[in-house]
Amino acid sequence: MPLFFRISATDWLEEVSEISESWTVDDTVKLAGILADKGVDVLDVSSGGNHPLQHPHAGPAYQAPFAIKVKKAVGDKLAVSVVGMIDNAHLANDLLEKDGLDIITVGRGFQKNPGLVFAWADELGQHVQMPNQVSNIMPNSKICLSETLLTYHCRSAGASVVAEVRSPPSRSSRFRSSWNDR
Ligand SMILES: Cc1cc2nc3c(=O)[nH]c(=O)nc-3n(C[C@H](O)[C@H](O)[C@H](O)COP(=O)(O)O)c2cc1C
Repeated sequence: MPLFFRISATDWLEEVSEISESWTVDDTVKLAGILADKGVDVLDVSSGGNHPLQHPHAGPAYQAPFAIKVKKAVGDKLAVSVVGMIDNAHLANDLLEKDGLDIITVGRGFQKNPGLVFAWADELGQHVQMPNQVSNIMPNSKICLSETLLTYHCRSAGASVVAEVRSPPSRSSRFRSSWNDR
């Protein structure tokens, strides 16, 4: 099982004149190398609300610059995950494909929409295979285990029909055995 390590990449106190020393992203970069050597697989880059004087620069993907700095330093020694206001599919995809990060983590987006993976896949024009047990009744699934009425639906969506029950269009024993075989 991969070992994840969640880190508060900065205390957000560099700009606070009253504080002379605080945890910064450069400290995180140094620690990341040590963690990789100690066997951590994934560094989950975040930042916490841990000082009353801090002023996080919140906005879309606001913690990504920290994660990118870590990734550039550690390369393939460690997978780097980023979190925080990643609120659309294209932003998430760019962080992976252009910035070289390994994992996108989303919190509140999933609270608003538990089907976020499917929504983002649609936004990016990608197909996500549903689990077989439910894909059977999804018209856009790749494979349909079909009853008579659904056959047309599946075929018209370009899916391959792997089994059909013609009569009666209900849970016949043949249908059940095909279902269980899959
Ligand atoms: C009010 C609040 C406080 C949070 N405090 C922390 C924290 O102390 N440490 C931390 O790593 N993440 C903290 N988070 C980040 C969450 O754990 C979670 O990773 C984040 O909400 C995910 O980003 P998203 O919800 O914008 O997708 C906090 C989030 C919120 C909304």
